[in-house]
Amino acid sequence: MRLYILFGFLLLAVICSCGVDASQVKFGPLCSGNPSNHIRECDKKGCGAYGAPRNNGKGKHEGLDIVCADGATVFAPFDVKLNGKAVPYRVNNAINDGVNLSGGGLCFKLFYVKPIKYSGTLKKGQKIGTLLPMQKVYPGITSHVHVQMCDRSDPTNGDWTHECLDIVCADGVTVLTPFDVMLNQKAAPYINQPKKEPINNGTTLSGEGLSFKLFYVKLDRYSGTTLKKG
Ligand SMILES: *[C@@H]1O[C@H](CO)[C@@H](O)[C@H](O)[C@H]1NC(C)=O
Ligand SMILES: *[C@@H]1O[C@H](CO)[C@@H](O)[C@H](O)[C@H]1NC(C)=O
Repeated sequence: MRLYILFGFLLLAVICSCGVDASQVKFGPLCSGNPSNHIRECDKKGCGAYGAPRNNGKGKHEGLDIVCADGATVFAPFDVKLNGKAVPYRVNNAINDGVNLSGGGLCFKLFYVKPIKYSGTLKKGQKIGTLLPMQKVYPGITSHVHVQMCDRSDPTNGDWTHECLDIVCADGVTVLTPFDVMLNQKAAPYINQPKKEPINNGTTLSGEGLSFKLFYVKLDRYSGTTLKKG
């Protein structure tokens, strides 16, 4: 992968290869307000990663939680067929809804979503539905869509997230351009996480035929400028 080549040149904090290679980014955004399908980090109710402990360690998380605010719009991440209702709980509550979908050779379910319909098809980027009021049921949780493969395998075998590299860099150190770049727009790694605000800065860059993001970096300007290498 081309990004790998970059690795040797960079003295930078974090690179996201968002949009580097269309074939790598198979899954479009799932939720409005979360364009990079950011996964739910650990909160007091648990962690969003596949396999994370559940029920005091007696169970494990059989899906992947993608951050999504209550009431946000949930989109088809690729062209999908809707295969009917799918619900997470036996005992009903305010967020007990979802849909079974197939597309791209995958069968998966989305929970906590009120779909606009349970059958038919949708094109990538079209609205599937709306995130249900998760804060009412789990106050303080990071609201999210739960993605679960029908065979309960690891959804990250697909491309729900973009690939990133972490490059070691001390706090306060100057971040240099790895080659001539254009600053495209501001990019923030976190959504709705007030505690992370001090590091919630970054930018989208392009240059050398690549488009990528740097996170945890504060810039004087976020767009409309080109910078020379170094
Ligand atoms: C989802 O729908 C597909 C297609 O109808 C079906 O084969 C599959 O069993 C369903 N999966 C689950 C877990 O409900
Ligand atoms: C960016 O960094 C500054 C601190 O330098 C902080 O106040 C701000 O909340 C950060 N995040 C955003 C999105 O601007």
